[in-house]
Order: sequence, then structure tokens, then C-alpha cells
Amino acid sequence: MRRPTILVTGAQGQMGFELARLLLPLGEVIATDRSQLDLADPDAIVAAMRGARPSLVVNAGAYTAVDRAETETALAHAVNGRAPGILAEEAKRLGALLIHYSTDYVFDGTRTTPYPEDAATAPQNAYGASKLEGERAIAASGALALVFRTSWVYGMRGKNFLLTIRRLAAERDELGIVADQIGVPNWCGTLAEATVRIVGAGLPAAAERAGLYHLSSIGQASWYEFARAIVGDAPRPRITAIATADYPTPARRPAYGVLATARFEAAFGFALPHWRDALARCVASPGEPAASG
Ligand SMILES: NC(=O)c1ccc[n+]([C@@H]2O[C@H](COP(=O)([O-])OP(=O)(O)OC[C@H]3O[C@@H](n4cnc5c(N)ncnc54)[C@H](OP(=O)(O)O)[C@@H]3O)[C@@H](O)[C@H]2O)c1
Repeated sequence: MRRPTILVTGAQGQMGFELARLLLPLGEVIATDRSQLDLADPDAIVAAMRGARPSLVVNAGAYTAVDRAETETALAHAVNGRAPGILAEEAKRLGALLIHYSTDYVFDGTRTTPYPEDAATAPQNAYGASKLEGERAIAASGALALVFRTSWVYGMRGKNFLLTIRRLAAERDELGIVADQIGVPNWCGTLAEATVRIVGAGLPAAAERAGLYHLSSIGQASWYEFARAIVGDAPRPRITAIATADYPTPARRPAYGVLATARFEAAFGFALPHWRDALARCVASPGEPAASG
């Protein structure tokens, strides 16, 4: 049987890098980074889709600079809002499946129990609004799509909380970390493995389950708890809990973003590991040195 063509966007990002690598056994992977496919350019998206004619598109590219999105709002909306809709329309034309990722930041964070998929959305920042626009554009296209909302993504490359804490731990004796924002850390490796497991069961089976799902490790943590887990038993730095109010950022963050994963588990028959187990696997995995962050 002919191997499917799989187009991956954002292939130099945390998720995209893992996905492009792990999808290789499942098809002819066309891995594109921003220089090869600029998601801010609608014509480039159409040309890439019509040129490659993929049977699966995995959109791992996104504008993820949450604070900068407050000022680069138009770019964030182009990449996170408009591009997924164009990918979806082109996927529909080709009869292809689209896999896309979204965020817990579509919610306002006022709940104290995990958010189900159909909870009311109310983004608190420009990034969250742009991601919600992307979800809506995909839904409006009528394409066959799996949209996975996830949260607090980290890994051994790129810019993320794990690498930031490791760098700061080497530089400072004391770190104040926000303790009143609750969410779930997710290793990009776990998220990519889950995606590949779904694709590996066959595109028709994946397409049958088209819809919106929360894809996340189990458990929950504050940034403070996550930082403590990263630093482990090391005597320094000393980590102290601070309040969001003590660490002002341009973008407002939801206070609570735990995603309920029951719909995912029922549809696909497996759960992701506890975030602490995923973190242990991540730090034991061969990674690349931090770029910065
Ligand atoms: N990171 C998180 O904490 C988090 C949380 C919840 C959901 N998500 C979602 O999960 C998905 C994967 O995120 P991630 O953590 O892997 O993000 P990431 O590491 O920031 O990777 C995103 C990739 O998209 C690329 N990109 C940005 N603008 C682009 C453009 N105009 N055209 C093409 N590529 C472009 C980036 O390239 P450059 O490096 O050149 O900018 C980067 O390689 C995204 O949909 C994101 O919204 C992430």
C-alpha cells in the first residue's frame, strides 16, 4: 500500500521536531519550518498543500510568544487564527485529515475543577484569542480534523519553563516562582507520542474520531511545584512561592487551566502519564542544548 504523505508545519518547534521524527515510520514526512512554509502567508499555505497533496497535515507551527502576542496581535492572529482555517480548507479539498493543537488559554481560568471540551471559552489574552480563532476556523471549514488542546508544553529544546528554570538555577541562589497559577506540565515527547499512536492506528480510524479533545498528562501543579520538581533535591537555588501579582507580565494568564481528559481517553483508549512521570522521562532523554529561554 502507498505510504501516506504527511505534511508537518513548525517542524523546528518543540512538538513539531518530535512529530517530524516520530512520524517517519508512518509515511513520507514533509517537515517544514517557517523558512519553508510561512504560516503568516496564506498563498504559501495553499501552494504547499496543493504541491504536497498530503493525506495528513500536522499543524505544529504556531505563534507561541504569549507576552509578545499582546503587541504583535495581527501576526499572532494570522498564524494561529487564519492559517489553521486555510490548512483546514485545503485539507478538505484533498480529503486529508488535519491534526492541530490548541491551548488551555482559550479558557478564563476561573474554574477550580478540570475544564471539559465544551466548557465556555473566554480567552484572557491575545494569544488565547488567536488560538480560539484557529479552532473556530477549523470547525467552520467542515474538514476532518483532530484538534488537541494542551497546556504548559516543555522539552529539551527551544524555549520553555524547564530550560528557563535550569538556566536560572545555575545563575541564582534564590528563585521566586508563581504559586497561584495551576495547570498541567506536558512534555512535548508525550504529546507527540500520543499523536503518533493515534495516526499509527490508521488514518480512517483517526478520521472517524474527528473532533475537539483535551490532550494532557494527568495530575496538576503550580509553576512553583513544577519548578521544584525540575530542581529536585539540589540544595540551591532556594525556590520561594510568589503570587501572580508579584510577577507582572504583559499577557494575563488564567489562574487555573487543568484540562479534563475523559473524552480523549474514551475515544482513543489510553491516557497520558502523570506529569511527574513524563518529566522524569524527559530529563532522562537525550536532548539538545538549550538555545535560550
Ligand atoms: N508551548 C506551550 O506551552 C503550549 C501550551 C499549550 C498549547 N500549545 C500549542 O502546542 C502547539 C505546539 O507548540 P510548541 O510548544 O511546540 O511551540 P514552539 O516550540 O514555539 O514551536 C512553534 C513553531 O512554530 C513556528 N512558527 C512560528 N511562526 C511561524 C510561521 N509564521 N510560519 C511557520 N512556522 C512558524 C516556530 O518557528 P520560530 O521558532 O521560527 O518562531 C516554532 O518552530 C502550538 O499549537 C501551541 O499553540 C503550546
